[in-house]
Amino acid sequence: MEIIRTVARLKEALDTLRSGGNVKVGLVPTMGALHAGHMSLVERSCAENDVTVVSVFVNPTQFNNPDDLRTYPRTEEADCALLEKAGVDIAFVPSVEEVYPEPDTRIFDLGAVAEVMEGAMRPGHFNGVAQVVSRLFELSEADRAYFGEKDYQQIAVIRRMAQVMGLQRPQIVACPIQRADDGLALSSRNVRLSDAQRAEAPLIHRTLCHSVDMAADGATVAEVKAYVLDTLSGHPMMKPEYYEIVHPLTLQPVDSWAEGATGCVTVWMGDVRLIDNIKYPAKN
Ligand code: PAF
Repeated sequence: MEIIRTVARLKEALDTLRSGGNVKVGLVPTMGALHAGHMSLVERSCAENDVTVVSVFVNPTQFNNPDDLRTYPRTEEADCALLEKAGVDIAFVPSVEEVYPEPDTRIFDLGAVAEVMEGAMRPGHFNGVAQVVSRLFELSEADRAYFGEKDYQQIAVIRRMAQVMGLQRPQIVACPIQRADDGLALSSRNVRLSDAQRAEAPLIHRTLCHSVDMAADGATVAEVKAYVLDTLSGHPMMKPEYYEIVHPLTLQPVDSWAEGATGCVTVWMGDVRLIDNIKYPAKN
């Protein structure tokens, strides 16, 4: 595996790797602090492509909260060791100046998918994601790009960005959430939970799972929403920010059970912000 820090070297290395012809390149964009969730994307890319590039870049333009940017875990050495072991070809670990030689002032037309939930709570966040992801797409010219469904809305936003930019490639591949044995969705932010918070955090997934059973037993969208919010806000260590049950493609809230309706939650535990989501069974 080559660790590449400059755009010039990335292009050169990819040109060489592609010179054999018909070489498929997979891209896994990450912000590092890699865990088994990321590694499931990496493994999938390695299985489906000839060459896998993993970017490790904490993108400042997508942080609307300076403390979150400052405290975001950075574990480059351990990340590169994991990527090497997984058989990755290129770890792209650029500086901010390499990714943004000039400030990126582009404003993307991300439409309604970016206006709700994370878009409403974190102004500018998705525009920053679109900036960095479009840049990584352009630099890698990848055939496929892999994203985790924990960031459910992010995938919809990236699809929209690719559509408005008229990109033919990469194909955007959504991969299932990976969970700890106790159900907590894997996230780089989990390491910032105290032991006590970490012990209680699985309540989020347990509550979502129970809400699916309630829906199967005939509860309405409004009843399910109230149950999830009441349960989580009733826990002394948790502050839910929102719980929305949304259409899987438009991400707009639904008030009756639509095919693929997905519940998306954000919960604060102390100063750590956790997100998770779950699909509800279709109702006729
Ligand atoms: O999901 C993430 O880790 C980031 O938002 C991404 C897609 C790597 C862009 O910085």
